[in-house]
Amino acid sequence: MSNAPAENSKTEEIVNEEEIDLTAANQIIDKYLTLPGNLMPVLQGIQEEYGYVPKPTIDLVAERLNVYPSQIFGVLTFYAQFHLKPRGRYIIRVCVGTACHVQGAPRIVDTFFEKVGIGHAETTPDLRYTFEKVACLGACGMAPLAMVNDDTFGKMTVQKVDEIVAEYNQRPMK
Ligand code: FES
Repeated sequence: MSNAPAENSKTEEIVNEEEIDLTAANQIIDKYLTLPGNLMPVLQGIQEEYGYVPKPTIDLVAERLNVYPSQIFGVLTFYAQFHLKPRGRYIIRVCVGTACHVQGAPRIVDTFFEKVGIGHAETTPDLRYTFEKVACLGACGMAPLAMVNDDTFGKMTVQKVDEIVAEYNQRPMK
C-alpha cells in the first residue's frame, strides 16, 4: 500500500497524456444541443460513455454549449455522481458504518488494501479496481458488508476477501 499513491499519480499522468477520442462526446452533445438545461444530461452521458468526465470533454462541452469551464467544474465537483479521474472496472465498497465497524470492518478494509494494493478512493494502475470506504449501506443485519459493483457480500471475513479478489481478478475488463 505504501507505494500506491506514487503508482496512482503515474496512472493519472499516463491517462492525461492519452488522446481521448471525442467522437462519442460530440454525439452526446449533438443529441442534447438544442434542449434547455442540457448541461447535466450531457455530462451524465459523457460519464456513462467514458466512465468519468475526461478533461478534453470538459473543454469541448464548454465550447459547444457556450458555458465557462469553471461552471462545468462547479457542477462536476458539486454532484458526487461525477468523477474526474478514471475509475476501476470493479468498484469495491466496504461499509465502515457503526454496525459494520463493531463487526470487524477495519480488518476487512485492511485486507482489501493488502490484496488489491490500493487505499481509500484509489484506483489500481491497470484500472481493474477502485476501492472506497462508505457509510452505512442499509443492510446492517449482514454486517460487516462489502460490495463489488452491484454485488453484495454480507458477513464478510478475511477468507471471503481472498475469495472475492481471486474471483474478480479473473473477470473480464469489458
Ligand atoms: S453499518 Fe454497515 S450496512 Fe449499516
